[in-house]
Amino acid sequence: MSGARESVHGMWSGRFAFILAATGAAVGLGNIWKFPYIMGENGGGAFVLVYLLCIVLIGIPVMMSEVLIGRRGRQSPGLSVKTLAQEASASPRWQVAGWSGLLASYLILSFYAVVAGWALAYVMKTARGDFQGQSADVIGAQFGAHLADPWALMAWSAVILLVTVLVVGKGVHKGLEKAVNFLMPSLFVLLGIMAIYSATNGAFGEALAFMFTPDFSKLTINGVLLALGHAFFTLSLASGAMIIYGAYLPSNVSIAKTSVLIALVDTAVAMLAGLAIYPLVFQYGLTPAEGPGLIFVTLPIAFGSMPFGTFFGTLFFVMLVFAAFTSAIAMIESTVAWLVERKGLNRMVATAATGGSLWLLGLLTVFSFSGASWATFELNIFGKPITSFFEVVDYLTSSVMLPLGGLVVAIFTGWVMTKKVTEEELQTSGLVYGIWRFAIRWFTPIAVSIVFLHLIGVLEPVLRLVGL
Ligand code: TRP
Repeated sequence: MSGARESVHGMWSGRFAFILAATGAAVGLGNIWKFPYIMGENGGGAFVLVYLLCIVLIGIPVMMSEVLIGRRGRQSPGLSVKTLAQEASASPRWQVAGWSGLLASYLILSFYAVVAGWALAYVMKTARGDFQGQSADVIGAQFGAHLADPWALMAWSAVILLVTVLVVGKGVHKGLEKAVNFLMPSLFVLLGIMAIYSATNGAFGEALAFMFTPDFSKLTINGVLLALGHAFFTLSLASGAMIIYGAYLPSNVSIAKTSVLIALVDTAVAMLAGLAIYPLVFQYGLTPAEGPGLIFVTLPIAFGSMPFGTFFGTLFFVMLVFAAFTSAIAMIESTVAWLVERKGLNRMVATAATGGSLWLLGLLTVFSFSGASWATFELNIFGKPITSFFEVVDYLTSSVMLPLGGLVVAIFTGWVMTKKVTEEELQTSGLVYGIWRFAIRWFTPIAVSIVFLHLIGVLEPVLRLVGL
C-alpha cells in the first residue's frame, strides 16, 4: 500500500496545502513573463491552440503520473522512480526520469532567479515612480539600461536566491507551506485587475484576435515543439517538482482532481497575463515579437499612465516576484531533498550550497542579457537560431529535457509500473483511469515522438518506410 512508505522530509498538512504549493510551483514567470512573449514570437493564435491542447492531452496526464510516482515513492525524484522500478521488477535505469527532472529544475532555476531579479528591481523602479508619464520609448530604453548593468542583475538575483535558501532551509512545513498560503490568491486578483484595465484602455479586440484566431501559416515545427515544451514548463512537469511535492501528499487525496484543478488555475493565469499585456502591445504599436523584455516594456506603460499606477504597478511586480518565488522554492527542493537523503547534509547547508552554485551558473544568463561578447554567439539548432547562453539553457531545458523527460515518465507509469499499482494509487473512477492510461501509454509517447522526429527531419522518411 502507498501508506507503507513515509517521507523523511515531512508532509503537507492536507489537500489544500498541496494544491496551493503545487499551484505555486506551476504559476510563475512561465505564465506571466514567458508565455506572453513566446506566444508573440510564434504568431499568436495557432501557438495558443497547440499549447492548450498540449496542456489538456499531455500535461494533465503526465502531471497525474508524476504525483503518483512521488506519492508512492515518497522520496526525491530519482530515488522515488528507482524504488518503484524495483517494485515492478524493472531496470533501475528508469530512475533517469527522476534525475533528469532534478537536473532540469536546477538548470531552469539558474536563469529563473535572474529574471525574478528583474521583477524585484522593477518593484523598486515602479515604487519610485520611474515610469510616471513616460513614453513607450523611454520605458523601453529603461529596460535596456537595466539589462546592460550586470552588477545590478547579479545583485538582484542574489537577493532572490538568498531568500529562497532561507525559506527552503527551514523545511517543508514551516517554510514552504506558510509562504504560498497568502501569495497565490492575491496574484490572481491583481492580474484580473490588470486585464480589466488593459481591456478597457487598450486595443482589446486586436489582442483577442491575435491570441485566439489560429493562423497555422505562422506556426513552425519549432513553434510546436516550443508549445509542447512550454506546456511542461508551465505545469512544472518533468522537472522533479510534482514528484517531490507528491511525495509529501497525504494518501487520501484524489490525484486526478487536484491535477485538473492545478492545470486550470495555471492556464487561467497565463490567459489573464496575455489579456493584460497584448491590448497594450497593440495600443502602443509595440511588436509582439519583442522577446523576453515584453512584460517589462508593456506593463510599465500602463502603470505610468493609469490612475494609481504607482500603487498598482508596485503591487503587480511584488506579486510577480512572489509567483516566481513559489516556483523557485519548488525548483530547488528536489536537489535539496536529494542532498539530505543521500549525502546526509544538514538541510540548511544543503540549501545554501545549492543556492550559491546556482548564482554562479546564473552568471551565464546575466551576461547573455548584458550582451557580453563571450556570452553571445550564433548557433542554429534544427532551424532555430540560438544566440546566447541564456537561450542555450532555455532551449536545452524547455525544448529538449522537459518533453523527453515527460516521455520517459509517461512510458514508465504506463508500461513499466503495473496496472494494479497505478490503479491503487490513483483511486479514481474506471472512466478517468481509462482515459489517463490511454493518454499515458499511447497519446503522449506518440505525440512527443512525432514532434521530435519531424524536428530532426526523419518523420517523413519513416512514414514513407511504413508506407504512409
Ligand atoms: N512552472 C514554472 C513557471 O511557469 C516554471 C517551472 C518549470 C518550475 N519547472 C519547474 C517551477 C519546477 C517549479 C518547479 O514559472
